[in-house]
Order: sequence, then structure tokens, then C-alpha cells
Amino acid sequence: MSTIAVEGGTRLSGTVRVLGAKNAVLKEMVSALLAPGRHCLSNVPSILDVELMCSVLEHTGCRVEQTGDELAIVVPEALNPEAPIDLVRQMRASIVVLGPLLARCGEARVALPGGDDLGARPIEWHTSGLEQMGAGFELVHGELIGRIDGRLKGTEIELPFPSVGATENLLLAAALAEGETVIVNAAREPEIKDLIAQLTEMGASISGGGTSIITVLGVDELRPVEHKVIPDRLEGGTYALAGAITGGDVTVTGCYPEHLRMELRKLEDTGCEVEHGDGWLRVRGPERPTPTDLATLPFPGFHTDMHPQMVALLSVASGTSVVTENLYDARFRYVGELARMGADITIEAQHAIVRGVDHLSGCPVLAPDIRAGAALVLAGLRAEGVTEVGDASHIDRGYEDFAGRLASLGASVERS
Ligand code: EPU
Repeated sequence: MSTIAVEGGTRLSGTVRVLGAKNAVLKEMVSALLAPGRHCLSNVPSILDVELMCSVLEHTGCRVEQTGDELAIVVPEALNPEAPIDLVRQMRASIVVLGPLLARCGEARVALPGGDDLGARPIEWHTSGLEQMGAGFELVHGELIGRIDGRLKGTEIELPFPSVGATENLLLAAALAEGETVIVNAAREPEIKDLIAQLTEMGASISGGGTSIITVLGVDELRPVEHKVIPDRLEGGTYALAGAITGGDVTVTGCYPEHLRMELRKLEDTGCEVEHGDGWLRVRGPERPTPTDLATLPFPGFHTDMHPQMVALLSVASGTSVVTENLYDARFRYVGELARMGADITIEAQHAIVRGVDHLSGCPVLAPDIRAGAALVLAGLRAEGVTEVGDASHIDRGYEDFAGRLASLGASVERS
């Protein structure tokens, strides 16, 4: 089992540069399927999920090559419209191939992802939107088989909730559909705006990116392009929190602080000194954080994927905080691991009541998912003694060389 071992007690200081955003690049790799030819993405992080998405694209017949932070994807004229269960199970973001495969091939066979460590995570908003565009679906032996007669047709689709994945699937399908598609109550995440920027460079006609109403005028064909992926706000936010929890002084460069407004505001509420400018931010942590309450919400609210790292910080605050999780029904699974380190946290439905303790104590824990894994490492940076975070491969899904980059800020951390 892969492990990250951290010896707590060092104040982190220095500068770390963020890489491209996982949740943008995965979708931008998929959008390449919409146009035959050679695409090139730059600022691509070397993370496990990118490798998995390369396998998904290769399964459809693409050739993929990563050199440094550049990823070349050669998309053939004829695609194999299939994403098999062994790949989808490892990374449920694979479901976003549904829209592009239907648009390009008229059919798609994608294994139903099922739930994961964060909860049930259904996909009915993806499929019902595509049905409104003319697709028909049947579930056969765990595989979702979608077909269209002719071409997808633009229409108005109102999402019950601003789902990131459903917005992206519909956007990708609509780019090659006949006529106009309007996505109402669309997700407004910066990664979606970046996907729209890439699609626009490819020749798509899209307006309203970054707002709740996105309008797509379908075109007959798209062309391959070169595109630079936006910085990963979650990676940047995690290093900022690493500085904060150790009472350290960390500067994050290559990032867009405006994508972390709510998270930085909450850090200020805990007593951190936060400064930022064009492409950088600096966080100086207090001796001991002050408690604060927060609730996760879709962008521009507090990001659910920053919640476990924030709970790690609040677990050593000088009082009680209430953290409300509004996106996932099983996000609090890591709390039991933090409790092994001495954290005092009670879960009531979707609320965590975090009673700050004056110290944590290192011990072996298990990372249940990407962000909770990062949060346990952060808790280890503050804890007395050594914390061994097992199942560290979860962290590799979203962070390139997490241990190495923390070590560059002075952390005593080793990966094995
Ligand atoms: N949902 C439904 N039905 C649907 C679609 C979504 O009930 O048809 C629910 C989900 O179960 C969840 C909520 O809606 O409770 C939000 O899900 P959303 O579709 O917005 O999330 P996603 O597209 O599956 C992406 C990120 C997640 C991030 C969420 C929210 C990627 C690859 N994943 O997931 O990132 O937490 O948006 O911002 O982009 C991570 O990076 O660690 C991660 C989990």
C-alpha cells in the first residue's frame, strides 16, 4: 500500500507553483473527441486521473502522448463509442464521454459508474438532458447504451441543480447538435468556462459561460486546437491551507486568486493573513486558528473539495465550528480517521460539529478519497509525531508529487 509519512511540527514556508486543473483537463481531453485530428493541451499535471483518462481515450481509438506538461491527442475519424467498466469504475469523470460519443458516433456504450466514496452520485441529469436532445437510453447488464436517430437536436434544458458533470456533458453534446441548446441553471465553475474557451477555439459557438444560462449554437464540425489548461484552484487552495495549519507562510504562484475568493475569505476568518495579486496569493497562518462556520455550495460558494482540508484546520481551532456539506451525502467518511489523531468532531446529518482541540497526535490513518487524503496529510503536518497516511494513491489522482512539493516548503514528509 502506498503511504505518505509526515512528521509534524514544522512551519511551512516558501513558494509553490500550481499546475493545471484536474477538473478542467479531464473534460478538455474528452472534448477532443469532437474533432478528428491532432489536439494539444499544455499545463497538464502528471496525475493518475489524467493517465486514466488517457486509457479511456485510447479505448475509443485515440493515440495519446504526454511529454512533460504537454499532452497530444490524435483523434481518428472513426471512434469506438465505448467506455468499459474497469475504466469508468476507477474514474467516474469518464461519464462525460457520453455526450461527445453520441454527437460523433450516433451511439455510446458507457458503463454506469455507480456510487463512490463520496456517495451515490447518480447521473440522471446527464441522461435526461441528452434525452431531451433526442437520445434514447437503455441499461443492459450494467452498461448504458445510448442511441440517436440522425443528429442531436438543440433544445432548452433546465437542470434541477447546477451539476458540473451534467453541464459539461450537455455542453459537449450541444456543440455539434442541430440548432440552439440553452442550458438553464448551468454550473458556473471556472473549469467550465475554460472548457468553453477551448470549445470556442475549436470553432463552437457558445455564450453565457460562467453564468447560469449557457447558450450553444450547434455547428457542423469542429477543428483540433492547442489549449492551455487553467491553474488548479484546489491544488493552490490545499497548499495555502498547508501553510495555514502549520502557522507558516506560504506563497502560491501561477494561480487565479479570484477562483478562491470564498475559501480565502474563510481563511481570514480563522485568523490567517491573506494577500493576493495577479497570479499569486500568500497565506500566513496564526499560532492557533479561530473557529468559523461554513457551508459548501456550487461556485462561487465554498468548494466542497476544500472542505476536508478546512476541517483539518478547524480541528485545532480555539473553539467550535460547524461545517455543512451540501453536495455529497458521504463526504464525512474521513472524520473517523481524523478522530484517531485526536480530533473532536461529531456528525449530525450533513453538519460536522468540530470542537477544536489543542493538539493532534500522529498515527496510521487511511485516505478514503483525494481531498480527504490531502486533509489527513495536512493534519499530520500539525500533529505531534509521525502520521502515516495509507492508500496514498488516492492523493495521486489529483496532486502531482504532493509529498515532494510539501517537502519543498520545508515539511518533513516521505512517500513510499
Ligand atoms: N448529481 C445528481 N444527479 C446527477 C448529477 C449530479 O444527483 O445527474 C448530484 C451528485 O450526486 C452530487 C451533486 O449533484 O451530489 C453535484 O455533482 P456534480 O455533478 O456537480 O459533480 P461531478 O461533476 O460529479 C465534479 C468534480 C468533483 C467536484 C464536483 C462539485 C470532476 C472530475 N469532478 O464532479 O471533484 O466535487 O464537480 O464541484 O470535475 C475532486 O476533484 O476531488 C472531485 C470530487
